Amino acid sequence: MSLLDVDDIHTYYEHSHILQGVSLQAESGRVTALLGRNGVGKTTLIRSVIGFTPPRTGHIRFSGEPIERLPSHTIARRGVGLVPQGRRVFPSLTVEENLRLGGLPGRVGRWSLETVYGMFPGLRERAANYGGQLSGGEQQMVAIGRALMSNPVLLLMDEPSEGLAPLIVRELERTMCRLKETGLAIVLVEQNLPLALAVADTAYIISKGRVVFHGDPQTIRTDDEVRTKYLGI
Ligand SMILES: Nc1ncnc2c1ncn2[C@@H]1O[C@H](COP(=O)(O)OP(=O)(O)O)[C@@H](O)[C@H]1O
Ligand SMILES: [Mg+2]
Repeated sequence: MSLLDVDDIHTYYEHSHILQGVSLQAESGRVTALLGRNGVGKTTLIRSVIGFTPPRTGHIRFSGEPIERLPSHTIARRGVGLVPQGRRVFPSLTVEENLRLGGLPGRVGRWSLETVYGMFPGLRERAANYGGQLSGGEQQMVAIGRALMSNPVLLLMDEPSEGLAPLIVRELERTMCRLKETGLAIVLVEQNLPLALAVADTAYIISKGRVVFHGDPQTIRTDDEVRTKYLGI
């Protein structure tokens, strides 16, 4: 049994039929990459899992339990964390206040303010700074730290490298590898193919709301046809 089992979901925005029968699995201690061009439905898949835009049909099981009809806060309390696209760090709250927002009563574990600062020492120095004063890389650390504060079992990361300088992307890669070693399951949406292929254990490519490829990340690296046909690169 997989930790996350998305089974034939169909998700809509009103009359727009975005996800047209998507299935995927994610496992503990593994990074599952979700690739695909802009607008194919990657964020919608993340939103379906966390319950912001529940699927109209199909099933989502987490730790064996159906979650597709649960409200987002309940899904979060079951152990699903989110690093949203665009980071969504509150500019007028301090780093520490942003991090504390991620905590959930009843979800204790390895992650606390102290261990998040241990993982991102730069954030400890910036604890009293406002979110709006941070660089893109620091904001991404806050977004990840905030999600970790809920001690998730599964972390959904939506384009975390977007807008970051190459050196910071390397740091992000190391962070994801360290998180994976803790046993965390990560679903990673990424446009940065080298990054995604470096950290992923398995990869899905989505095109027009459907999974068109699932397999070894190495195949995407070596198979020109898969890359040009589905990723346009
Ligand atoms: N809130 C919304 N209402 C209506 N359509 C939306 C909304 N959000 C996204 N879409 C549409 O759904 C499709 C998939 O979007 P999205 O999941 O954000 O794609 P991706 O993350 O792969 O770039 C796009 O055509 C987009 O325009
Ligand atoms: Mg998106």
